[in-house]
Amino acid sequence: MTDPPGRDESLALSDRRLRRYWDRQAETYDRCVAFSERRLFADTRPWLCQQASGETLEVAVGTGLNLPHYPSEVQLTGVEWSPRMLAQAQRRADDVGREVHLQVGDAQRLPFPDLRFDTVVCTFALCCIPDDRKALAEMARVLRPGGLLLLADHVRSTLWPVRLLQAAADVVSVPRHGEHYRRRPLPLVEALGFTVERHDRFTLGIVERLAARRPRPVTHSTGP
Ligand SMILES: C[S@@+](CC[C@H](N)C(=O)[O-])C[C@H]1O[C@@H](n2cnc3c(N)ncnc32)[C@H](O)[C@@H]1O
Repeated sequence: MTDPPGRDESLALSDRRLRRYWDRQAETYDRCVAFSERRLFADTRPWLCQQASGETLEVAVGTGLNLPHYPSEVQLTGVEWSPRMLAQAQRRADDVGREVHLQVGDAQRLPFPDLRFDTVVCTFALCCIPDDRKALAEMARVLRPGGLLLLADHVRSTLWPVRLLQAAADVVSVPRHGEHYRRRPLPLVEALGFTVERHDRFTLGIVERLAARRPRPVTHSTGP
């Protein structure tokens, strides 16, 4: 597990506050999300992770709840800004015998070169990464042309009464710990030029998962 020096100084003050929040959640996170995992998210983790191939990056890997679901041949890297969440992910990787390179880093400024990965995965984190657009642009940057972006998150519902409740929840959760209930990554992914190949929305339209392909550059024939 690598932790680049000077990481604290590289984050804005508000982001450092959020990161401390996630550090405090690390011990209890798995218990807190157990109900949602069973009742709301269905088979989302295996559905997503089974589509990963080659060099794979998981952004905001948290406590590593996806780790047991990746195919064994995938070469896995996980990035996360909370060292304590990352320590839980390392523990899980050891428990399930999963080789993974875990690294402290900010999803809004990924510490990887362009075009580095075949697959990028992010689950239930774009709802709380401060700048979700920046994070998605970073995921696109590190993906190779033809690479696969795999996302799952809770999003604004398709039903207006639920959207009202989500708006009320946002009033508390956004200032308290930066969690947004009415975001939706799919249109942002399309705006980045990705082709959505598979897509699913369920649980009152609150949970959405998708597989989107980064386009290959168009090659022009130079003629005979
Ligand atoms: C709700 S948890 C989801 C964790 C995991 N992806 C999962 O599916 O269980 C959100 C995670 O995003 C991480 N996170 C939030 N903003 C981040 C950022 N800017 N860079 C890296 N990680 C971030 C938090 O530390 C936390 O671990």
